[in-house]
Amino acid sequence: KIIVLDYGSQYNQLITRRIREFGVFSELLSHRITAEEVKAINPKGIILSGGPNSVYDEGAFGIDEEIFKLGIPILGICYGMQLLTDRLGGKVEAAVNREYGKAELEVISDDARLFQNTPSKQIVWMSHGDLVTQAPAGFDIVGTSADCPIAAIQNLTDNQFGIQFHAEVRNSEYGNEILKNFAFDICHCKGDWSMDNFIDMQIAKIRQQVGDKKVLLGLSGGVDSSVVGVLLQKAIGDQLTSIFVDHGLLRKGEGDQVMETLGGKFGLNIIRVDAKERFLSKLAGVSDPEQKRKIIGNEFVYLFDDEATKLAGKEGISFLAQGTLYTDVIESGTETAQTIKSHHNVGGLPEDMQFELIEPLNTLFKDEVRALGTQLGMPDDIVWRQPFPGPGLGIRVLGEITEDKLEIVRESDAILREEIAAAGLDREIWQYFTVLPGIRSVGVMGDGRTYDYTVGIRAVSSVDGMTADFARIPWDVLQKISVRIVNEVAHVNRIVYDITSKPPATVEWE
Ligand code: XMP
Repeated sequence: KIIVLDYGSQYNQLITRRIREFGVFSELLSHRITAEEVKAINPKGIILSGGPNSVYDEGAFGIDEEIFKLGIPILGICYGMQLLTDRLGGKVEAAVNREYGKAELEVISDDARLFQNTPSKQIVWMSHGDLVTQAPAGFDIVGTSADCPIAAIQNLTDNQFGIQFHAEVRNSEYGNEILKNFAFDICHCKGDWSMDNFIDMQIAKIRQQVGDKKVLLGLSGGVDSSVVGVLLQKAIGDQLTSIFVDHGLLRKGEGDQVMETLGGKFGLNIIRVDAKERFLSKLAGVSDPEQKRKIIGNEFVYLFDDEATKLAGKEGISFLAQGTLYTDVIESGTETAQTIKSHHNVGGLPEDMQFELIEPLNTLFKDEVRALGTQLGMPDDIVWRQPFPGPGLGIRVLGEITEDKLEIVRESDAILREEIAAAGLDREIWQYFTVLPGIRSVGVMGDGRTYDYTVGIRAVSSVDGMTADFARIPWDVLQKISVRIVNEVAHVNRIVYDITSKPPATVEWE
């Protein structure tokens, strides 16, 4: 396997998943890992990720320099390249022109091992404020760009490489080939890893962690927690109890559907808890998005706690399983990465939580979870459900949540979903929903003036939720949706369509 050391880039787990796509197991580990620990893992290669620091910043993330002497091939990407350079005696300086976006890289050596079978001129994705201005002794400069004279370096004696650009981002034209060259040609990986191995690995890990104890699963009915449910049932059978919380922030018809499919078809032992009052009373009067997310996240855990006590007495259930994905982890902020928003199941957890967590999917991206679900024999209508956030409609009613506002979002969302399905677009569009920004505007209906709410339509295409492009729903479908919502949902007189991508926006509005 190949390990990736984490220096805090929002994209660093993309490196691991690209490599897993090649059939090589890869995971992200802390940059604090020691050479001894690396030796014990015995990886075929090490990648140092990008990150927001400067190597010469106070407290900048470092590396155990003994790692350089293990004889394991190393690839530094962006910050990783700068760190490698700095520690091996080269020079890193602030760039005159900070560079963000596409750049043309020119490969200037015939023997540039990372760039084999790629053209000598190629588009790469740059994002940096510092530059390597002098390669360390023993390194050759093998790639260069207009604003970055030392864009790729290699030391074939020690098998150490550096690239200033982000090969893991799709915008780097030959990024995949470059990472493949590292994995196969340089590290000699075999490429025989698959989701099957992942299932076996996780089952063994879960059994070892849980022993004969009991586990509670927070089931939302979404893809992620459903996959965790099926995986856990395989691993520990009836030591698992699932709790499905109806927090009053669900979509129309959702509760019954979850009970039918997962309880019925898959035979999960599910307890349905009606907790609408509990959540809505805690949320009353709160309008700050982060605060709302934290309240919901906390309340989930307190409720699981109560249910666990009811089920088995205070000491009975020690584990809480969740369908946390890597995307939730990275966006909630980690030791190295900035907080974008607190996903309810990560940043929203209470500090005094008693449970130990089981999160078998927390290194995976959504599309990998879908592949896993299919591998586990789950049907397409669960595996291909659009993502739905744990805080539910609570973050789609912007600002303060009221029952009336929830009703508007719930009804308009149901219409949107119906029409998207009728147009055959439900699999094509990654996620689609309505939001209530809370603004009112003037309209005219019949012969009278109205002063009512605006509903926003949000639809995006994405592969993993980390980046997204607004979906191009055909005008005639949009028109149908617009007419139906205004006609059928009380207190709505205007529909707008969100045409922002992520970045700069996020998928959800809060
Ligand atoms: P954002 O809004 O961060 O969303 O661009 C990326 C993806 O994550 C979903 N999302 C969440 N999922 N708990 C979840 O389980 C959350 O708190 C949460 N917030 C956002 C969002 O729907 C999109 O698919």
